[in-house]
Amino acid sequence: MQSRVGSHGTLEEGKESKDPLTKVANQSRPLQLRLLQCLLLFLGVAIVFSFFSMYMMRYLGGQNVIASVPEARILACVQEPTTLENWIKPPSSSFHRMNDSELFWRASFVPQIKTYPFKRVPKIAFMFLTRGALPMAPLWEKFLNGNEGLYSIYVHSLPLYQPDFPPSSIFYGKQIPSQMVEWGRMSMCDAERRLLANALLDISNEYFVLLSEACIPLHNFSIVYRYISRSRFSFMESFDEDSPFGRGRYNANMSPEVNITEWRKGSQWFEINRKLAVDIVQDNIYRPKFEQFCRPACYVDEHYFPTMLSIQFPHLLANRTLTWVDWSRGGAHPATFGKADITEKFFKRILDGKTCIYNNQPSTLCFLFARKFAPSTLEVLLEHSSEFFGF
Ligand SMILES: *[C@@H]1O[C@H](CO)[C@@H](O)[C@H](O)[C@H]1NC(C)=O
Ligand SMILES: *[C@@H]1O[C@H](CO)[C@@H](O)[C@H](O)[C@H]1NC(C)=O
Ligand SMILES: *[C@@H]1O[C@H](CO)[C@@H](O)[C@H](O)[C@H]1NC(C)=O
Ligand SMILES: *[C@@H]1O[C@H](CO)[C@@H](O)[C@H](O)[C@H]1NC(C)=O
Repeated sequence: MQSRVGSHGTLEEGKESKDPLTKVANQSRPLQLRLLQCLLLFLGVAIVFSFFSMYMMRYLGGQNVIASVPEARILACVQEPTTLENWIKPPSSSFHRMNDSELFWRASFVPQIKTYPFKRVPKIAFMFLTRGALPMAPLWEKFLNGNEGLYSIYVHSLPLYQPDFPPSSIFYGKQIPSQMVEWGRMSMCDAERRLLANALLDISNEYFVLLSEACIPLHNFSIVYRYISRSRFSFMESFDEDSPFGRGRYNANMSPEVNITEWRKGSQWFEINRKLAVDIVQDNIYRPKFEQFCRPACYVDEHYFPTMLSIQFPHLLANRTLTWVDWSRGGAHPATFGKADITEKFFKRILDGKTCIYNNQPSTLCFLFARKFAPSTLEVLLEHSSEFFGF
């Protein structure tokens, strides 16, 4: 003990010492002390860390295996027998610990008896594919307000993005486990498949709408719901374009799965029904071909689903999109609208004077959504939503 107390003095002396051996011997005592200090510090950190991890496990919803095994055993003794409720209840949270193989497998389950033994109200799944924030969230909240039970929401954003919706928001907790997305590459289609797979876990989701953070609704919910649910076709745009930007992007290595007469192009923003959603999630025939042979300047999100579905289910497609966009300004990207663009005339231009085919009949109602709108437009859109859109 005494020697340790005096060790500081020894160290000073040691510094002066000319004999290297004495120096080492003298330094070894403070070294021991230091080791002991380090050990104690390490022990302290370890204890704090284990308390922290225990807390985190609970905080993360007790989904951890370690935490949930005893709970499951206890529950097994008191749980009621399985009811249908257990099978049809949607997951309570968008968060889960399945990787893509597990998730897609689970999402591909399809009942073989086509009559539901319960009252199933078909819902629209609004799936937001975003980089980060959802600036138009307040407009969507206003649009969806009062239609609970007829819709669900899923958000896929870049993995590092932390959403900050308050618990009162309908977007709270709607983030699905996300992965990195590179625009124009297969990782983008994979993100869309991930959104579809998550939405498929809720048996009541029947219609699946892909949207971006720059999308807005153009009509009130009743009109949107009726239009989608009464359509005999899914709104996947799909056309054959004989140009460098259409057939020009085809790669002969894709045959025999896809040959050039089957090659299609279409907007990334779609609405599809449950049958097509399952088909996309379970696909492992076309995906490898597109991943390998459709890379920029072949933008896979403009070709993969339109081509694949046109080959497999041409009779189920409307071959047009519900999402209006303005390509008239030219260039590689469509126009983005700012605050100054938003006038009643502007929306008249989008909504009026259009014709399209709906259920094999001519229709003047062609678009339900529009893009691209800058965050600066939110305020004026919210203020005038009843005049512009009827909600
Ligand atoms: C998911 O996990 C399973 C089991 O660990 C593994 O076999 C599979 O390769 C994983 N899939 C992906 C896409 O990581
Ligand atoms: C939705 O809009 C239509 C047409 O503008 C209108 O007739 C209908 O009353 C609106 N529905 C609701 C619930 O606001
Ligand atoms: C492409 O597909 C069509 C129809 O399936 C077939 O008739 C044609 O022979 C195919 N062409 C090639 C080059 O494989
Ligand atoms: C969509 O295009 C396919 C050919 O790719 C065609 O068979 C189908 O009838 C079209 N759908 C409608 C609604 O016209």
